[in-house]
Amino acid sequence: MTVLVIGATGSIGREVATALLAGGTRVRALVRTREREELLPPGLAPVLGDLRDEHSVTAALTGVDAALYVSPHDPDEVRMADLFVTACDRLDVRLVFAGVVLTAPSRSARLATETLVRTFLPHYRGKLRVARRVAAAQREPVLFGVANYFQNDEVIRADILDGRYGLPTHHNGLNRIDLRDVGEIAARALRDPDFPAGTTALAGPESVSGPRAAQLWSEALDRPVRYDGDRQDWSDALARHLSGPKLADFRRSYGFIARFPLPAPARDIAGTTALLGRPLRSYETYVRDTAERWNCEDPSRSGRGGSYPPS
Ligand SMILES: NC(=O)c1ccc[n+]([C@@H]2O[C@H](COP(=O)([O-])OP(=O)(O)OC[C@H]3O[C@@H](n4cnc5c(N)ncnc54)[C@H](OP(=O)(O)O)[C@@H]3O)[C@@H](O)[C@H]2O)c1
Repeated sequence: MTVLVIGATGSIGREVATALLAGGTRVRALVRTREREELLPPGLAPVLGDLRDEHSVTAALTGVDAALYVSPHDPDEVRMADLFVTACDRLDVRLVFAGVVLTAPSRSARLATETLVRTFLPHYRGKLRVARRVAAAQREPVLFGVANYFQNDEVIRADILDGRYGLPTHHNGLNRIDLRDVGEIAARALRDPDFPAGTTALAGPESVSGPRAAQLWSEALDRPVRYDGDRQDWSDALARHLSGPKLADFRRSYGFIARFPLPAPARDIAGTTALLGRPLRSYETYVRDTAERWNCEDPSRSGRGGSYPPS
């Protein structure tokens, strides 16, 4: 079978594409430029195009059995999702989505969560519209509501190597998840036409606070890393690493995460573990693996900068 992955040069899409390739699936990727094509994991078939361009979206979707949709950080996100889902409907392509989805278990809990999000995260209104548009696809789609993921730390790699961990997280933490696990679960959903349609929360195994994250980085890198997320200037610091709508999204989202504890319900952790078929990767494992990779990329251990996904 052939699967089209949107966002394969980005964080989520890259891990899903890698898991699909590891399982022997043919993977096609919609990429915007030849330069970005060089960031794709080896083995993908690139199709040049843009989510704003119906012609290239149709070309990329023609002949595929299933598609992963990831919504870019973009003011046009609802229009792009509409164009993509409409094309999937026309070409009868099964759709899997990974991103922001409300996954509360009852109507009243969903309404309460929606009110909280609309009040404190107004920029999520577009993201929720994207999820609703995907949910209305003709061939019953699979939607994964992905928790804040570990790999966000790689955005502040230079700061971590400088001894500062500045992504604020409420002291009661939130259940962040490893995108490698998300990739494996989404790859299963893309390969298996009988994978249950509907909305599922993907949550990490434990609730990790900002100070605990700093401590784990310190241990893995064997150098002091202090937690900086309580300082007023964490938001300014992000501008050293991000720009545009992605910077705005990170600032607002982490502002929210800093104020509200968001531990995942036990049923979400159990459900994610069951889908994976083995224990979820812990944050500690992610930090150790990543520190090892950074050390290999930078044997003098004094390198700065870097980006995620790794090229
Ligand atoms: N950060 C979190 O913890 C978290 C958690 C849950 C959900 N989310 C949601 O996940 C989504 C972002 O996923 P991500 O982190 O994988 O994003 P990302 O790393 O920023 O990657 C975005 C991808 O979309 C591609 N893209 C952007 N505009 C495009 C266009 N016009 N046509 C075709 N491709 C385009 C980019 O390609 P280029 O390489 O050309 O730029 C890139 O491959 C957002 O909706 C976010 O709200 C994030």
